[in-house]
Amino acid sequence: MNAESMSRPDAGPAVARVRALAEQRLDGRRYRHCVGAAETASALCERYGYDADSGYLAGLAHDLCKQSEIHTQIELARSFDGPLPESVFSNPRLPHGPAAAVLLAREGLSTDPAVLEAVAYHTFGKSGMGPVALAVYIADKIEPSRRDWASTIRLGIDEGRFDGDGGLVRLATATIEAMLDRIVAEDGRPVADTTLVLYNSLSGKSVREWPVR
Ligand SMILES: [Fe+2]
Ligand SMILES: [Fe+2]
Repeated sequence: MNAESMSRPDAGPAVARVRALAEQRLDGRRYRHCVGAAETASALCERYGYDADSGYLAGLAHDLCKQSEIHTQIELARSFDGPLPESVFSNPRLPHGPAAAVLLAREGLSTDPAVLEAVAYHTFGKSGMGPVALAVYIADKIEPSRRDWASTIRLGIDEGRFDGDGGLVRLATATIEAMLDRIVAEDGRPVADTTLVLYNSLSGKSVREWPVR
């Protein structure tokens, strides 16, 4: 046990319990995605000087409710103690984040506000979210088990392109740009307002559509 985990004795058991829950609740592909997100989030936290254990736990837990019944997700999400966009309750892609945060707290798996914030907002983001939440938001998008579009971002991290002052914010900005380029060019899906709100808060721009004209 290293000094870091000794200072938070519940870090280890919580990871083991969340891992068991994820294995039980998710199919193999999603479980591997969660492990990839955990490893990527903890590496990002470490790189930028934030709590790597919180990043790992939140990454592992972020999609715990992804395959739950939608009414269960919504019911849990309604108990989340924090601001949520209205679309959480009308877009079925969105409630699993706040739902998992509520589950973590209810099951006594984490009371760390940074972990709960990261899990709750990993899909739609929040302007002003903390560094662990930002790391998990990014890790969810770029972890290596899927999403070829993210390979240039991963390469940029390895090459140190996002090191130095404001590196995590620059990395988040570049990740959103690459993701939106992909969504618009290849998937033809509409861009969520919440993503543009997060993008504008990170970049200091006032973008209202993608691609930017
Ligand atoms: Fe998710
Ligand atoms: Fe995910």
